[in-house]
Amino acid sequence: MFLDDKNQNDINNELVKNYEIDYIFSNKPINRTANQAKKVEKSQLLQNLKEKINEIKDCKLKENATKLVFSDGNIKSPLMIVGEGPGQKEDEIGKPFVGEAGVLLNKMLDAISIKREKIYITNVVNYRPPNNRKPEPSEIERYSNFLREHISIIDPKILVLMGSTAMESLFGSKIKISKERGKWKEIIINNKTYLTMITFHPAYLLRQADQKKYSWADLKEIRKRIDQLNIIL
Ligand code: URA
Repeated sequence: MFLDDKNQNDINNELVKNYEIDYIFSNKPINRTANQAKKVEKSQLLQNLKEKINEIKDCKLKENATKLVFSDGNIKSPLMIVGEGPGQKEDEIGKPFVGEAGVLLNKMLDAISIKREKIYITNVVNYRPPNNRKPEPSEIERYSNFLREHISIIDPKILVLMGSTAMESLFGSKIKISKERGKWKEIIINNKTYLTMITFHPAYLLRQADQKKYSWADLKEIRKRIDQLNIIL
């Protein structure tokens, strides 16, 4: 028995609904690899998150900033870095870590043979705080929901929190960065555990050069774990 076009279409539509996929009946050549599908989905989820942040209301950060600074780097990266918030240059350009702190960050990554374009970078807050002040606790808390979602979408193997604001955003304000840096920790986001390292922020290292030795120890530890986990960057 042959099905007419309408019946065939109805069956196809039913199948599409059941499996929640929209390409199985396409006649066009397509890439059917899982990674490709995941990548498309990831960029869509990131776009949705960006739009959600863009819609934030009654936020002093947004009111004073010129641009939303969302992220930079490779969305498929197994290594994700979180800073504090955009500075003047980041606000101008719309990308994180493109000013002085970014120059140092690039050198730090270079020192452990990581190219910046291979990793993924974002901040706790996505709008420049007025006069580069530290984000207030209420702002850190408000944006931490976005950050958690961001981490969940990127789904990195290693998460590096740079500075006390990034630490506070995910671990609360009761702990001190001087005690917590350099240790591997676990954070659960959306039922998934992420291997996390807290370390000093490059802007802090620009002010406190004597602390670079600790940062170097942390970077070496991160490199060691990347190698142990056979992570290719
Ligand atoms: N400092 C940050 O924490 N993030 C940036 O993007 C720039 C400076």
